[in-house]
Amino acid sequence: MRIDDIVNLAKRRGFIAQSSEIYGGFSSSYDYGPLGVELKNSVKSAWWNDMVYAGRNVLGLDAAILMNPKTWEASGHLGAGFADPLVECISCHRRFRKDQLKKESCPDCDGKLTKERKFNLMMKTFVGPVEDAASETYLRAETAQGIYLNFPWILESMRLKPPFGLAQIGKAFRNEITPGNFTYRMREFEQMEMQWFFLPAGATGSAKHWFEHWREQRLRWYLNLGIKKGNLRFHEHKKEELAHYAKRAADIQYRFPEPLGWQEIEGIHYRGDWDLSNHAKYSGRDLSYFDSEKKKKCIPHVMETSAGADRAVLVFLIDAYEKIAGGRTITTQSAKEEEIILRLHPALSPVKVAVLPLVKNKPRLVELAQKIYEELRTEINGLVQYDESGTIGRRYRRQDEIGTPFCITVDFESLEKDGVTVRDRDTMKQERIETGGLADYLTKKLET
Ligand code: GAP
Repeated sequence: MRIDDIVNLAKRRGFIAQSSEIYGGFSSSYDYGPLGVELKNSVKSAWWNDMVYAGRNVLGLDAAILMNPKTWEASGHLGAGFADPLVECISCHRRFRKDQLKKESCPDCDGKLTKERKFNLMMKTFVGPVEDAASETYLRAETAQGIYLNFPWILESMRLKPPFGLAQIGKAFRNEITPGNFTYRMREFEQMEMQWFFLPAGATGSAKHWFEHWREQRLRWYLNLGIKKGNLRFHEHKKEELAHYAKRAADIQYRFPEPLGWQEIEGIHYRGDWDLSNHAKYSGRDLSYFDSEKKKKCIPHVMETSAGADRAVLVFLIDAYEKIAGGRTITTQSAKEEEIILRLHPALSPVKVAVLPLVKNKPRLVELAQKIYEELRTEINGLVQYDESGTIGRRYRRQDEIGTPFCITVDFESLEKDGVTVRDRDTMKQERIETGGLADYLTKKLET
């Protein structure tokens, strides 16, 4: 498969499309349609459930995107550490990241390239009606900083003791020189980040312990949601690869279709006391924690898990995608066509259940199907669809293609004897279930 297969499916079936398309699009911005937003919201809730609700001593937060610009001086993001090497073609004036080029000349027109200069990735903006230096600030480049700035407030108001974590999901912005590969690299994207505050040499665990702990926990999250084991691996950063704030880092990488190959989808970063110490210095505020056992103040260290929500969505789509030449749902019209199945984990499927009357020209059958649909709509947590157009085989295919785990077929037997057929997307097994117990049966299935 190719990334283009996903791009086409995502556009055709209402998952993801180019932003501002009627104006010719807007570079590297994408919009999530009705099915895309369901998938993305499910990814974010799966992350939140796992981080905040699973008893890990992690609480949530939602900080502002616009922050005091001093934040970014203190964090080091305005410096050379958060800049990419930029070169420009002197013939066609296209710009590239030097470290991503395979040759010394322009990849588009073979023209000569300028000398490299550092290009900072922070996205500048102005607040208020006057566009001068005093009103200048930045759109946040990572959600993490909103957590560090709130550290003393949350510590006190929630009466916390390290080790504990603060989790946040939100937009981040980077002026990437070469965005691309669909939603893999964008200028506006969403992060799911957790900062774990711990005392560096305390009885609660060392940096090595927490690094390994969070690395394993985060890998398991992808595996539990169905990503194939062979498509995931760790990449430990060499010294020269480390971000300016990191003492140690490992990426979780996914094996994307060629030519992308193995690429980062999440980073686990040991940030030491870099952020809290710098914010203490720049703000003049005391950001330490009083360790009552040792009777002394200390700045907690941070282990960060930083995932991209858009990258995760892309990975779930790619990993779930399967194309079967000739198809598996045989109908007279569609026997020779290829069939696409999106084998998404049921927790992530945008449509949870589809209700399909066998035919649409038998009023009693349609009436019963609509009644079942109305009931399931209120009882199932998530989207339920009703579809009566086309042959039953075509309708199964339409649902398989968007990853719907269960299709309910209301047939002639349903009119004689209480019961409908529940078809499982993956096994294609059909089970007869009484309508009274249908919602419970599906809810249980969807939870597993
Ligand atoms: N707080 C640490 C941090 O931001 P990062 O490695 O720069 O670390 C973390 O980013 C994650 O955010 C990446 O693994 C990726 O999933 C996502 N991400 C970063 N830049 C992105 C971009 N331009 N487009 C989409 N996702 C991006």
